Amino acid sequence: MPETQRKIQTTGRQRGRKLSPRQQALRAEHADSLRVPATPTDPRTWFSHVNEIWLEIGFGTGEHLLGQARAHPQVGIIGIEMFEDGAIKALDSQLEEALKNLHIFQGDARELLEILPNHSLDRLFILFPDPWPKARHHKRRLLNAEVLELILAKSKPGARLRFATDWADYANQALSLFDHHPRVTWQPHSADDWRTPPADHIPTRYQDKNLGDCAPVFFDVSLSGS
Ligand SMILES: C[S@@+](CC[C@H](N)C(=O)[O-])C[C@H]1O[C@@H](n2cnc3c(N)ncnc32)[C@H](O)[C@@H]1O
Repeated sequence: MPETQRKIQTTGRQRGRKLSPRQQALRAEHADSLRVPATPTDPRTWFSHVNEIWLEIGFGTGEHLLGQARAHPQVGIIGIEMFEDGAIKALDSQLEEALKNLHIFQGDARELLEILPNHSLDRLFILFPDPWPKARHHKRRLLNAEVLELILAKSKPGARLRFATDWADYANQALSLFDHHPRVTWQPHSADDWRTPPADHIPTRYQDKNLGDCAPVFFDVSLSGS
């Protein structure tokens, strides 16, 4: 059985409304670059002249991804999104703005992480992942012990991960994972550090919907690799 079929689904939908003819053409034209490579690949080959590699997992429609790419032209930014409409929409904006330091994939972030070399990422973002609030669905949450281990393996020592959610239970789950992992360090700068959006945060579409049961929570943690 292919690896993809064995992975538990972390999102409820992969396709929304039908793509417009223009979006379908974009998808066809960029099918190869949107697809996660099947074999190990050094992410530096996707960019020229970048000094760091960042990854955003589940970027939705890409407001944050595109914003970070605009703000950091010297950083090679990878975005991966399962939802086809979001990936194509972000690709469309990337092409329109000719953002050369961005590589967009459509697919499962866990598969992308698997093909990256160890110690290749400087920074990661998981922003407002699908909350799966019902207890029987918690197993579908993207951030879990296994994914954290994969992230640690692919991160350079000293890399940073930003996790944000507006679901209290998911925030507690993340904090507990970070707290108990010897290679993850969370150093709050103030008593309400986690409730204050970081200075370089770019609000996301999902965040703006305020669907959660608490105010947005942000954890910026340091990863010491593995
Ligand atoms: C709740 S949305 C938030 C989107 C965006 N981060 C925002 O804040 O607007 C979560 C996104 O993660 C994507 N996602 C879920 N599991 C994923 C996975 N394994 N790999 C890549 N993307 C995933 C979903 O398709 C969805 O678009």
